[in-house]
Amino acid sequence: MRKVGVLGAGSMGSGIAQVASQSGHEVVLCDNNQEALDRAKAKLAKIMARLVEKGRVTDSDAQAIQERIQYSQSTQDFSDCGIVIEAIIENLDIKRQVFSSLESIVGNDCILASNTSSLSIAAIAASCQNAERVVGIHFFNPAPLMPLVEIVPAIQTSEAILDDAKNLIDSWKKVTVLTKDTPGFIVNRVARPFYGEALRIYEEGVADFATIDWAMTEIGGFRMGPFTLMDFIGNDINYTVTETVFAAFYFDPRYKPSFTQKRHSEAGWYGRKSGRGYYDYSEGADKPEPNKDQALGQMIVERITAMLMNEAIDALFLNIASKEDIDLAMTKGVNYPKGLLSWADEIGLSPLLSRLENLYNEYGEDRYRPSPLLRRMVAKGDTFYG
Ligand SMILES: NC(=O)c1ccc[n+]([C@@H]2O[C@H](COP(=O)([O-])OP(=O)(O)OC[C@H]3O[C@@H](n4cnc5c(N)ncnc54)[C@H](O)[C@@H]3O)[C@@H](O)[C@H]2O)c1
Repeated sequence: MRKVGVLGAGSMGSGIAQVASQSGHEVVLCDNNQEALDRAKAKLAKIMARLVEKGRVTDSDAQAIQERIQYSQSTQDFSDCGIVIEAIIENLDIKRQVFSSLESIVGNDCILASNTSSLSIAAIAASCQNAERVVGIHFFNPAPLMPLVEIVPAIQTSEAILDDAKNLIDSWKKVTVLTKDTPGFIVNRVARPFYGEALRIYEEGVADFATIDWAMTEIGGFRMGPFTLMDFIGNDINYTVTETVFAAFYFDPRYKPSFTQKRHSEAGWYGRKSGRGYYDYSEGADKPEPNKDQALGQMIVERITAMLMNEAIDALFLNIASKEDIDLAMTKGVNYPKGLLSWADEIGLSPLLSRLENLYNEYGEDRYRPSPLLRRMVAKGDTFYG
């Protein structure tokens, strides 16, 4: 089994190292900060102790998983790795420097992968002499628990490297989906309206945070409402991702960020981590009561899910991924109750198109434009899954 290198021992790198070790690989986890390495080691010890306590792994397996990981401050220790997965700071210049220097350390057949959420794999690959060996392998947080991994070939990536990377991650019992090297890949692109449309509904004064969250969980079947989820992710992080995606799509109005979230971020109301976001998380704080009006709730769910389905359909239209992978990505990456394309079949493509056309006609905004693929399918009477 090939040795796996992981660069960056933060939230993602430490989780990826755990997954690789649990799958039986020798792992080198490297970080230029010794404290990060110490934290990663202590965190894994705690996780393993908990898994042993719950009877999920034996004592000796837990020991072996920890012993297979070598913690290092030197990337020279990657010299005999078959793959190196980079999970350092999200900065293109730094990633490019790191990839270029890794090439002089690893062997010719070593795969170089990036866990980037938002940067172009082509731009990272271009820093290497052998750009064909570079691929995106995008895990979700926390990597040991989230089943989805997006595999992202750059335009330079060779077929052989792509197959190899996909087979390796499949062997780690992850659900892999293949996606084009475009902003947000599948999940972070298709999920934008979950936040954006919820914020827009709030800004129009249609409903408050608690009511929108109630509608999306109780009627929509989502595990968390958009505002609870944004508070969980952090409004600073979620806002930055939205701004990045908006700019990366050449300011397509569909991805326009919201002032409400910007102000929350500017005020330091990040969410759970700062004690206050859309909700107040301080001890004894009152929990706002939703307005449980069924018709209002239904309207909220229909508007947000119509936007999500349109986004998924447009991703298919633009060949970002296959229909199966788009649906898998949203159920396995962000726990949506149903794949958006099969959900669209379920409600009917014609009613979906009418919902979007009503929004488009009412607002006159490009944000609500129905995907051409949806129009074509309705004209032909097609469905996604027959
Ligand atoms: N956090 C998430 O939810 C998430 C999800 C998917 C992908 N990602 C991506 O994964 C990457 C890492 O994110 P994270 O949240 O784990 O970050 P993090 O800040 O928790 O960890 C980054 C680690 O990289 C180390 N580091 C920085 N520069 C380095 C260098 N030049 N050499 C060696 N080590 C270096 C830091 O010391 C730190 O320990 C980013 O590209 C991010 O976009 C993050």
